[in-house]
This record gives sequence, structure tokens and C-alpha cells, in this order.
Amino acid sequence: MYFCRNKSAKKPLIWGLRCNMAIINSDINQAKIFLDQGNVIGIPTETVYGLAGNAFDIEAVTKIFEVKNRPNFDPLIVHTNSVERLKDFVHYLPEKALLLAQEFMPGPLTLLLPKHESIPDLVTSGLDSVAVRIPNHALTLELLANLDFPVAAPSANPFGYISPTSARHVEQQLGERIPFILDGGECQIGIESTIIGFENEEVIIFRKGGLAIEDIEKIVGKVSVNTHSSSNPKAPGMLKSHYSPKKDLLIFDKKTFDIDTQKERIGYLAFREYNINLPKENQLILSESGSYKEAAKNLFAFMRQLDAMEIEKIYVELLPEKDLGRAINDRLRRAAVK
Ligand code: TXA
Ligand code: MG
Repeated sequence: MYFCRNKSAKKPLIWGLRCNMAIINSDINQAKIFLDQGNVIGIPTETVYGLAGNAFDIEAVTKIFEVKNRPNFDPLIVHTNSVERLKDFVHYLPEKALLLAQEFMPGPLTLLLPKHESIPDLVTSGLDSVAVRIPNHALTLELLANLDFPVAAPSANPFGYISPTSARHVEQQLGERIPFILDGGECQIGIESTIIGFENEEVIIFRKGGLAIEDIEKIVGKVSVNTHSSSNPKAPGMLKSHYSPKKDLLIFDKKTFDIDTQKERIGYLAFREYNINLPKENQLILSESGSYKEAAKNLFAFMRQLDAMEIEKIYVELLPEKDLGRAINDRLRRAAVK
């Protein structure tokens, strides 16, 4: 029997009978019980919060797609706590995959590897590769170590919307649809993991993310990037429109910028400096010191803040195409597509 926090009630209520908001706390024992029972819950990672369920349990995995309203052609990442365990879910680890795993796991890295039969086809949308990741978050690593199964977990946002970087973000959008959110504070990286696949000897980046390409190349040499965008992808993971706020989001370009509406109705997201042509109160700066790490950490929370402001549209400034600036720009460009 579980009790939930209910601001308006004097006594706690029994979850599932009267209370319809998720319980939020940092108790991994409670998280484990919910997962063992086949529930889908919010979990923290260093990148973004995930919507987790037992990857071996078809009903739990089905629930993940339903709660997120995600089409089932878009496969899920399988999360566990060690490289040793990860080996059980794949047929083999190519040499370069092992090098990357040893260097960056736990961390913001997802590897696409030949899928083992133990992983249900539903998780991988019928593909013969599986995406595997070890998140670098103390609470979640301990939870995963105590589970008898890996968890499948997409980002814990409704399909297409901005990813969550705090338990509160998860609560705001999915709090009525899941029983529990494990609160692990704010995500320290703030953008999703970098997804890497292997073809023969080649290392291919399929999603730019929290691990910079420069760092990957230090370990395995030159990589190629294949992050084609398509609104109807044959290969999943490349949806063109994504990470979108409800308001119109446009990429700022000094040359073509023309204020066609009242200045007060425009929000602005910049890397280091305010736009002097627009009111300061509707602007957010990702990192005044020019840190890509700080910018990534702030990105999604700031997009949400702008989405909640009394403005009509949001202009965003692209960052230099280096370091995590590349992954941030990828999110901004996809958010700008309607
Ligand atoms: O940082 C992250 O990776 C977060 C946290 C929660 O771990 N998870 C995350 O999951 O971003 P999701 O589902 O929002 O994005 C995973 C991406 C999707 O675009 C999916 O299409 C792609 O990974 N993907 C998963 N399995 C794949 C596979 N076997 N082949 C190609 N793409 C795959
Ligand atoms: Mg996502």
C-alpha cells in the first residue's frame, strides 16, 4: 500500500484509489517495488529524466509507449548498471565499443549493438540492434544494481515535447499518468546521451548528445556523423521535429531578423549576451561565461520557462558548432521545425 502527497488533503491518500498524482521522493526501495510490480516510473539520470519500466516485461514496455504517447516504431534505450551486465543484452561488443564503454560508462553515452534474444522486439521496434546505456547518477545506479532486470527508458516527456531535467518537470506533464517519480535533483548534463553505432570498423554518431564528439575521437579516432532528419524516418531516432515548446520557436539570424510583432511579445534565448534590441525581461542567457556545459545544463529548463511566459514566439541563438554546442544546436534546430 502506498501513500501519496496531496497538498489539499490533511491525511495522505492511498494511491490509485483517490489520489491521482505521482508520489515523489528519493526512496530507491519504493522505486524498486513499483518497478518489480510492473509499473512505469520516472527516474533521474545525469542527462534527462527517464520513464522507466522492466525491459523484460512486455506489459511494462507497452505502458511506456502509452504514457508517453510515443509511436512504437521509435525504439527504447535499455539501461543497466555495469558493463558486465550490459554484455548479457547484446551478442557481442566490437573492440571500439568496448574501448568507449571502458572510458565513458557510466556516462552520457548510448551504444547501438547487436541485440540478444533476451530483449523483447517491442523494446527495439523490431530492429536487430539494441541501444544500451549506463547512466551516471548515484541513486539510479544503486536502483539498477538492486533490480533483477534492465529498464527500458525513453526521456520522461510527452512525445515531441521538451525533455525533463527535474522531477518537477516530469510531474508537470506525466504526474497524473505514473505512480512514482524518483527524485534525484537536477540533471547535471541536461541533454540526452550521445548515440553511437558501429559498421565494420567505422564509428557512427546517430545522435549528438552530452558526450562531445571531440572526446569520443580522442579514444577511437575519426568518427562519422549520421543524424539525418526526416519527418517519417525509415531509421528511427531521427525525427525532424522534436524537443518542441508549444510556442513558435525560431532560429535568430541577425541578417534577416525583422520585428514583425510587438517587441514585448518576443522571448529570446541566447548563449552569452542579451539581445540589445529586445526587452531584457523576456530573455534568458544559457551561460554568461560561455561554458558549453552550463549551457547544456540550462537548455531545456530555460526553454520550458520561455514557453510559460506571456510571449508569442521564442527566438533562439545558435551556439558555435563545437563541443556540446553541436548537440545544443541540434536540439534547437529540431525544436524550430513545426
Ligand atoms: O540520455 C538519454 O539517452 C535519455 C535518458 C533517459 O537515458 N534517454 C533518451 O531516450 O533520450 P529517448 O527514447 O528519448 O531517445 C532515444 C533515441 C530515440 O531517438 C530512438 O529512436 C533511438 O534512441 N534508438 C533507440 N534504440 C535504437 C536502435 N536500436 N537503433 C536506432 N536508434 C535507436
Ligand atoms: Mg526523447
